[in-house]
Amino acid sequence: MAKTIPVHIKQKFEQVVNVPTLPKVLSKVISMLGEPRVSAREVAKVISQDQALVSRILRIVNSAFYGFPRQIKTIDHALVILGFNRLKAAIFTASVLEVFKNGQNDIGFDVNGFWEHSIGVGVISKALAKHLRLPNVEEHFIFGLLHDVGKLILDYYGKEFYEKVLPLQKEKDVSLREAELEVIGFDHSIVGSIVFEKWNLPYDMIDVVTWHHDVVNYNGKFLPSVGIVAVADFLTRLVGIGYGGDMFIPPLHKNVFSMLNLDLMTVDYIIYEGLSQMDSMRDFLDIIRG
Ligand SMILES: [Fe+2]
Ligand SMILES: [Fe+2]
Repeated sequence: MAKTIPVHIKQKFEQVVNVPTLPKVLSKVISMLGEPRVSAREVAKVISQDQALVSRILRIVNSAFYGFPRQIKTIDHALVILGFNRLKAAIFTASVLEVFKNGQNDIGFDVNGFWEHSIGVGVISKALAKHLRLPNVEEHFIFGLLHDVGKLILDYYGKEFYEKVLPLQKEKDVSLREAELEVIGFDHSIVGSIVFEKWNLPYDMIDVVTWHHDVVNYNGKFLPSVGIVAVADFLTRLVGIGYGGDMFIPPLHKNVFSMLNLDLMTVDYIIYEGLSQMDSMRDFLDIIRG
């Protein structure tokens, strides 16, 4: 369920933010995935047209996160070993990372801390999805990884906003989101929403990004995923993985836990599982940086 974003907000956004384009190959892959009878092999063929993307995807699938003992050398090979869904996660991740490859991060936003937080949310989202036996467990890693991407868009492509937001956040010692709302009038979830719609990303991904700070008001069809990412965001900050732009724990309505049928013992276990995977995620962080 897309959020209706008022025209004046869209206009204000367009005036400042120069939205980067996604690699062409990803747009092609996304539209192929929407077709009913597309084969994984056809998708692999399209990806192979973009060598930079291919090498990034291969670095991701060869990372400790996936933990395969033998090196995966081609997209076809990755497809056989990982399966389509896990490869899809790597394609999305690699493509979005391409967007920030050439941008400038020079106004003091902690990008490493940001990615560490995002990876933490990805890992915990995936663990939660697995626990809840959702069919698309792998996708939850991407949902978590990209939930705050609006912040990065503002840092790289909306400096006019973030140059005021970042000092205000420090000066007033409020959350980054509160500072965004005060300076810009909307927050990074709206930024993510506008950008993801422009990029024609899948609806579940758009909803996760749009509603991750407003789950109780969400009544679209991707509730478990939206709730999972909100809980993962909360837990990641609670245990201090990475840096989401401030030291605050985002407020989370207690109903969200019951909406997802999560009890304390499960949450404890998920945190333990998430933390134990964080070491292999350092590898992932290097890929993001590189
Ligand atoms: Fe957020
Ligand atoms: Fe977050």
